Amino acid sequence: MSEIIRDRGEGVVGLRLNRPDKKNALTQAMYADLTESLLAADSDEGVRAVVISAEGPDFCAGNDIFDFARDFPVSQGMPVEDLPVFRFLRALTFFSKPLICAVQGQAVGVGVTLLLHCDLVVAADDVRLSLPFLKLGLVPEAGSTLLLPQRIGHARAFAWLALGEVVGAEGARELGLVNRVVPGEMLDAAANDMAATVSRWSPAALKHTKALMRDPEALWQVVLAEGEIFRRMLTSPEAMAAFSAFMRK
Ligand code: COA
Repeated sequence: MSEIIRDRGEGVVGLRLNRPDKKNALTQAMYADLTESLLAADSDEGVRAVVISAEGPDFCAGNDIFDFARDFPVSQGMPVEDLPVFRFLRALTFFSKPLICAVQGQAVGVGVTLLLHCDLVVAADDVRLSLPFLKLGLVPEAGSTLLLPQRIGHARAFAWLALGEVVGAEGARELGLVNRVVPGEMLDAAANDMAATVSRWSPAALKHTKALMRDPEALWQVVLAEGEIFRRMLTSPEAMAAFSAFMRK
């Protein structure tokens, strides 16, 4: 069974993370599948919206830590934009149609920063969002150094990153990180309802609206700048020690 389940409804593509035994931690292969699906959905005129969701009790435990420790160090000579994770982030940054996310349980690292690229987010009432980049000796990624302070203000963004806070469902709604909080059993239906609603409007009007509200070129430059530093920091003694501790556990 694929670790990304893709389905196609009436004008809506669903992309479901399907690695629940590993808390849906994202591997290079999963990033590659997601990239392909996002690019295909963007260029398919019949697709009006995409819904990202996840199987199991938790949304996503971030990047696979075994991949961090194994694959990134050997990629040092390559341009960051050629790495599967950055190809995914590029597809996300430049995605021109409504992107909706349904998030539940634990969401960590890129499991949170990808939400900042979504146009609508619905959360289950058990959601716990964490950004442990500093704890891992890393820097925030996926454009979050721009998007997070823009969304919630510098002081709250910095506190979240530097004080290791975990943000729950109501906190996320108050901060403007999620649009709606629903009981877990209603999560998928709520996200699909949102997708069905936005799918009613003119695709051209939606595309223009999203384009007018964002500056993907500027965002992409931030993603790349973060990526260069992030990759260097992956081999720092602090990051290596954090990964070893996790892998030993
Ligand atoms: N990469 C690879 N495997 C991961 C993972 C990750 N990011 N997160 C969880 N897993 C795996 C665990 O190794 C474990 O596998 P196993 O059953 O084969 O031992 C399984 O998923 C369950 O995780 P576990 O840690 O036992 O669950 P938990 O409920 O106790 O804790 C988390 C959940 C998310 C708090 C914890 O798994 C965690 O901190 N993960 C790392 C998150 C992280 O730092 N991500 C990188 C962000 S930049």
